[in-house]
Amino acid sequence: MQLDKVDSVEISASILAADPLNLTTAIHTVQSAGVDRLHVDIMDGHYVPNITFGPHIINALKGQTTLPFEVHLMVEKCDAFIPMFAASADTLIIHPESTQHLHKSLQLIKDHQVKTGFALNPGTPVEFLTPVIDMLDYVLVMSVNPGFGGQDFIPSSYTKVQQVRTLIDRQKHPIDLAVDGGVTPSVSGKLIECGANILVAGSAIFKHPNHLRAIQELKLASKSPS
Ligand code: DX5
Ligand code: ZN
Repeated sequence: MQLDKVDSVEISASILAADPLNLTTAIHTVQSAGVDRLHVDIMDGHYVPNITFGPHIINALKGQTTLPFEVHLMVEKCDAFIPMFAASADTLIIHPESTQHLHKSLQLIKDHQVKTGFALNPGTPVEFLTPVIDMLDYVLVMSVNPGFGGQDFIPSSYTKVQQVRTLIDRQKHPIDLAVDGGVTPSVSGKLIECGANILVAGSAIFKHPNHLRAIQELKLASKSPS
């Protein structure tokens, strides 16, 4: 493995798994512990059978930290949500199933001066990326079906990460490759080997009794593939 590949790995803490009564404290704790980004899951009860945060809360949280926010929209009709979250998002991640006009939705994100993210569900083919890859700053490989934290990692995600890495490496512009769902120290090393450079983790960080150690374990395991 190339050392520069490992050294550039970033950890993104998914606040879905944090204590909802103490979100500000949770964010300050993981920022001090060394996470690189915050991952914010927005669910509407339609695209996925769960409901999470609205823009009011996320805007307020954005003012509490200097960490970049990646806002993951798991919603139907994502175009209505893009303006709602643009002010608090550094990256807005959409699912191709949530828009009838993918190119137009990505352009809408760009029009708000926000980085564009594209999420691939476990059942969505990698080829969906191809027509719009020139517009993307970030690809999120979902390693669980979206909707809930705390699910088990789906092993076929390794191959998907490799396939996306191959596509990204053909591009002339930089694109981040993140993995989201069931990420623990036992899978992080292999994910980095397969080409991921961002690991999204909720339960592995916030359900761990020691957040600092949890983040250290994820980073350490990324350097030594299992
Ligand atoms: C799942 C979400 C994930 C989730 C990850 O729908 O998109 O971001 O919060 O949580 P863990 O790490 O617990 O699987
Ligand atoms: Zn997510």
